[in-house]
Amino acid sequence: MTLKGVLNADLGQGTINRNIYGHFSEHLGRCIYEGIWVGEDSPIPNTNGIRSDVVEALKNIKIPVLRWPGGCFADEYHWKDGIGPRAGRKRMVNTHWGGVVENNHFGTHEFMELCRQLECEPYINGNVGSGTVQEMSEWVEYLTFGGESPMSQQRAQNGREEPWKVTYFGVGNENWGCGGNMRPEYYADVYRRYQTYVRNYGGNKIHRIACGPNSDDYNWTEVLMREAARFMDSLTLHYYTVPGEWQNKGPATGFAEREWFTTLRKALHMDELITRHSVIMDKYDPERRIGLIVDEWGTWYDVEPGTNPGFLYQQSTIRDALVAGLTLNIFHKHHKRVRMANIAQTVNVLQAVILTEGEKMLLTPTYHVFDMYKVHQDAEFLDLTLDAGSFNFDGEELPAVSATASRDSEGKIHISLCNLSHLAPTEVALDIRGVAGQKLSVTGTTLTGDKIDAHNTFAVPDNVKPQPFSGFALQDGRLAATLPPMSVTTLELTAG
Ligand code: AHR
Repeated sequence: MTLKGVLNADLGQGTINRNIYGHFSEHLGRCIYEGIWVGEDSPIPNTNGIRSDVVEALKNIKIPVLRWPGGCFADEYHWKDGIGPRAGRKRMVNTHWGGVVENNHFGTHEFMELCRQLECEPYINGNVGSGTVQEMSEWVEYLTFGGESPMSQQRAQNGREEPWKVTYFGVGNENWGCGGNMRPEYYADVYRRYQTYVRNYGGNKIHRIACGPNSDDYNWTEVLMREAARFMDSLTLHYYTVPGEWQNKGPATGFAEREWFTTLRKALHMDELITRHSVIMDKYDPERRIGLIVDEWGTWYDVEPGTNPGFLYQQSTIRDALVAGLTLNIFHKHHKRVRMANIAQTVNVLQAVILTEGEKMLLTPTYHVFDMYKVHQDAEFLDLTLDAGSFNFDGEELPAVSATASRDSEGKIHISLCNLSHLAPTEVALDIRGVAGQKLSVTGTTLTGDKIDAHNTFAVPDNVKPQPFSGFALQDGRLAATLPPMSVTTLELTAG
């Protein structure tokens, strides 16, 4: 059966914020240390201590914004421990993640240098759980104050005369859990107090981000919006796709067909979450001034056998590529409220886009989806309706296809399609409207695997990688395509 749809190429519905393609890097396991920071004396090629291969790969996918230093680590992090000569920095225990020594060699200056190299915006998450108002206030002063002050003088002594530009600042992380186990009423007041001292210095305007709900905690959103909406620019949402239970999440590879299905079903739950949190936000903020930032999302499996359970290191397969495609399609759909999202986490942790082993680096299937989807960054979201069909497994049903489309600043149209079925190809046929009189040419790229846990290893790093796609035909304004099983495909339509 062919699934039919219509793309109105002239019906733009608003911009897909490039920050939806953001990332998150925490002091957790081998994300920062080894994955990003190797130090200036490392034999691994680096610029100012930051590994060059990882920077190059992230620049290629146009990483727009990077969140740091946590996560749960953020509410235990004291930024003054991470400035000044590295040899003298305090060594602490990373109590939340594996109980390992944190030598604070990667601190504020190193993070801002990373963002400079990546040409991306910093999103810094402040400490509410175990930090003071003064500490948070002084961090913002240290980062952004251009005149003479105790913090700007200290910054200059540490080698940076000029203030940095920092827009995104989070006031606490998961304050309903690891960030202090607060009730929403309490956090709303704490948030109001802390954010008061997060100042705008000179021309630097901070975008204040309040800690939002865990998954379907709609009461948290209700209370925060009721009590603190006028003090925030964005509210966060955290949701992880866990195929099993928290105590037994399921493996990243070697899983059963049932887990393929369950994982995709749970990933699709993001749509309901955003819809229902948005309804609450609409009640208090009908103008949509406040953004919803999904600053932690992705798959979370049992760690790889033999690795530190506190390091959250997992492989990434074609299943994760599907989760990425589906989730990005959902973010596009909700582009009017969702202004940023940050996949967890950039390197070596959870649904990483990059894995490293010593000097070796590989790109995961999720990386390739971000590469294929970068064309949607800052593009105009287009009106696309498609019969999603049905993918049945063991008496349950999911949509067979998820699709999204946009038009970039050069007028090129990109359509991305996920075929959820691991069993069969799916045929789609789209009437392309709104391009009368224009001659269109089409090219395509697809990402698929030969089995449901197809993935890349350091021995075979290119097992799963995008391939040119020619399984389409354009005739009389109708674009027909046959999507391979378990695939993510992007088609590019160019006029003229
Ligand atoms: O991403 C891993 C952890 O998940 C983060 O530190 C925390 O915010 C969330 O619970």
